Amino acid sequence: MDKFIIEHSRELSGNIYVSGAKNAILPAMAACLLAPGKSILRNVPNLIDLKTLAHLLRVIGARVEYENGSMSIDSKDVCFPEAPYELVSKMRASIYVLGPLVARLGKARVSFPGGCAIGTRPVDLHLKALEALGATIEIEHGYINAKAEKLVGTDIHFDKSSVGATINTLMAAVYASGTTRLFNAAMEPEVDSTIDLLNKMGAQISGKGTTTLEIHGVDDLFPVEMNMIPDRIEAGTFLIAGALSTKPVTVCGCQKEHLMPLLDKLREAGCSLAFSGQDITVTPPDQIKPVNILTLPHPGFPTDLQAQFTVLMCLADGVSYIEDTVFPDRFMHVAELNRLQANIKMDRNVASVKGVEKLSGAEVMATDLRASAALVLAGMVAEGSTTVSRIYHIDRGYDRIEEKLNSIGAKIQREIG
Ligand code: EPZ
Repeated sequence: MDKFIIEHSRELSGNIYVSGAKNAILPAMAACLLAPGKSILRNVPNLIDLKTLAHLLRVIGARVEYENGSMSIDSKDVCFPEAPYELVSKMRASIYVLGPLVARLGKARVSFPGGCAIGTRPVDLHLKALEALGATIEIEHGYINAKAEKLVGTDIHFDKSSVGATINTLMAAVYASGTTRLFNAAMEPEVDSTIDLLNKMGAQISGKGTTTLEIHGVDDLFPVEMNMIPDRIEAGTFLIAGALSTKPVTVCGCQKEHLMPLLDKLREAGCSLAFSGQDITVTPPDQIKPVNILTLPHPGFPTDLQAQFTVLMCLADGVSYIEDTVFPDRFMHVAELNRLQANIKMDRNVASVKGVEKLSGAEVMATDLRASAALVLAGMVAEGSTTVSRIYHIDRGYDRIEEKLNSIGAKIQREIG
């Protein structure tokens, strides 16, 4: 298994570039199943999670090709509506094929996703919504079997704001007869991006950017070409790297509106920010100030930046409190950061982070995607050398993170294992 060996490297400076958003591309790939023919997605990075979904789409009968940041998906011949355990267990977002398959083929058999390092992560909201649209759902031998002759539009009230359930239901409802209304829908930029893609294909979805979405069912959808939005979590990770640096860093190709909750917190921590087109320059403060964080659905502070922000707070001048209300158990990185001599105490889902003068390099282990990114940032600011093992987690969602960070002055070496 590959490892990163990271030497203390806090003097970052220059430009670092953001790739397309993994969490917008995954549903876009699944949505391509809805429009028979060849769709093309652009600004697609080379990520393990995207390869896993491409593999699943091929199993289902689609033709998927990837070259130079462009992915083409030809879904003319999709005929095998099954997502096997081997693929779903590798990546939970495989559940995104459920809605499109039931909508287009009238049935789907999708392995039930298990838990993962960030919590239990149920899919009950996805299933309830599909049932409300008229599908019958049976769980058998670890598989979700869903069937529907024809889905029928209805009102659906989500108990909780869920990105995945909102997107899956949108994709199921585009072909449903009549009107579907989704209440308490998620408003993440990745939901908006999926709405844009579906509408471009010919769907009729209104209410984008609000918690109430209305979908008028249509009879046909057509393949499209679309440029994918920049990854706000990768951008946020690099902005936090800049806040931890001793010199200004410019993160290029961001969508500022997607990053507002983080930008406010960076200012609170003492950073100055400058904007030019799609570029954001972060100038670090002499002394990082403590800032409290409460993760919430968008437009609240994103859970996917909680671990990375915690690293920033490890070096703040005082105590900060970090609470994750989206995934309350998402604190696997805390024990690893404490191995680097951070001073973090957990009380249920609240981390109290007492800033220290410096972190000290050690061997640590990545547990999930964003925790791994946090450990890379921590390794860069820690004195001496830090080894991060199990970095396959980071390759799932960051394209060549070490090359990108090294281009602005980090000293990260990949040891192939
Ligand atoms: C998406 O996961 C992202 N994944 C996650 O990013 C992200 O952390 C999360 O949204 C929150 O922003 C992808 O986009 C592929 P949710 P998702 O449904 O859709 C509960 C990363 O690192 N819930 O919005 O699975 C759930 O347990 C990943 O890139 C139910 O109770 O998240 C959580 O508490 C990790 N029942 C809350 O809702 C359900 O049926 C929000 O989860 C579904 C969710």
